Amino acid sequence: MPPLQVAVLASGHGSNLQALLDAFAEPSAPARIALVVSNKADAGALGRARGARVPTATIAEDGQDADGLLALLAQHDIGLVVLAGYLKKVPDRVVAAYRGRMLNVHPALLPCFGGAGMYGRRVHEAVLASGARISGVTVHLVDEQYDHGRILAQWPVPVRPSDTAETLAARVLEAEHRLLPAVVGAFARCGGEPCLTLAADAFGAAPSLQRDFADALTAL
Ligand code: GRF
Repeated sequence: MPPLQVAVLASGHGSNLQALLDAFAEPSAPARIALVVSNKADAGALGRARGARVPTATIAEDGQDADGLLALLAQHDIGLVVLAGYLKKVPDRVVAAYRGRMLNVHPALLPCFGGAGMYGRRVHEAVLASGARISGVTVHLVDEQYDHGRILAQWPVPVRPSDTAETLAARVLEAEHRLLPAVVGAFARCGGEPCLTLAADAFGAAPSLQRDFADALTAL
């Protein structure tokens, strides 16, 4: 089976993109990062893509050029779209064209701490302000509402009494860098919506995250 052609949409630093590039670098990998698109010409993610010799494209800052985006995705024969730190709402026509084939990673346990304006440090500040003892990562299908589509996989990250938004964000990002490639890999192997157990098994094996999970339990 040819590798699943994946497009990554990113607005910023691109560390989740880097995790995907590293996870699917081998020619024998089930997925291939075939295109990186940003609404920010100076996004760090574009530099990472160029470094990995992956085609890049910059779209209008507001991200609302549906025809342009659909043409780009068709041109690169994209089978799965991944939003990784992409801060603009994807036009409804593009969501509809990729229904069930567009994922987003969010740095909290949805449906809490999500929605319009909930991104970056604001998410972690809201988690800390709420007193929640567990935060985490969510990978979900994208629909016409921010952070709303069907949840495919989640992983817990304990909130420590000494946490600041920065320290919590750093530990959540570590979990993102493992969960997102695991879900994309499962998607590629399953030819569509992942058999979730695959993702969980691959993920659960990670010692550091097992330790996190144990910490999460003891934090209760
Ligand atoms: C990540 O925490 C992601 O969950 C959120 O934005 C951040 C982007 O990080 N949507 P990066 O650009 O992938 O480093």
